[in-house]
Amino acid sequence: MQKKKIKVLPHEVICPDGMMIEANPNESILDACLRNGLKIEHACEKACACTTCHVIIKEGFNDLNEASDEEEDLLDKAWGLQSTSRLSCQAYPVSDLTVVEIPKYTINQVSELT
Ligand code: FES
Repeated sequence: MQKKKIKVLPHEVICPDGMMIEANPNESILDACLRNGLKIEHACEKACACTTCHVIIKEGFNDLNEASDEEEDLLDKAWGLQSTSRLSCQAYPVSDLTVVEIPKYTINQVSELT
């Protein structure tokens, strides 16, 4: 299997200039990001039990593996949910290029703000 490219759009704190990275075969978007130094939160350690690894898929959404019911339920609680939202620990890139936006906040940060 070939490596897949992931384009991470600029995020104020995590990667101000955006970044192009590669995912190894069978590597989730989250793992590929972490391996490349992009510090996306992952409060439940990738167990599909939080929403802090939420990302919005800007390109390649339909090519990703399908979200499980657990993931869909959790996503409903994510800050800034969009129709192409995924939990990055549960999403594996399939197309040659996946474009990802990291939301400004995670649910943990929002609860600290309020
Ligand atoms: S790290 Fe908790 S759901 Fe992805």
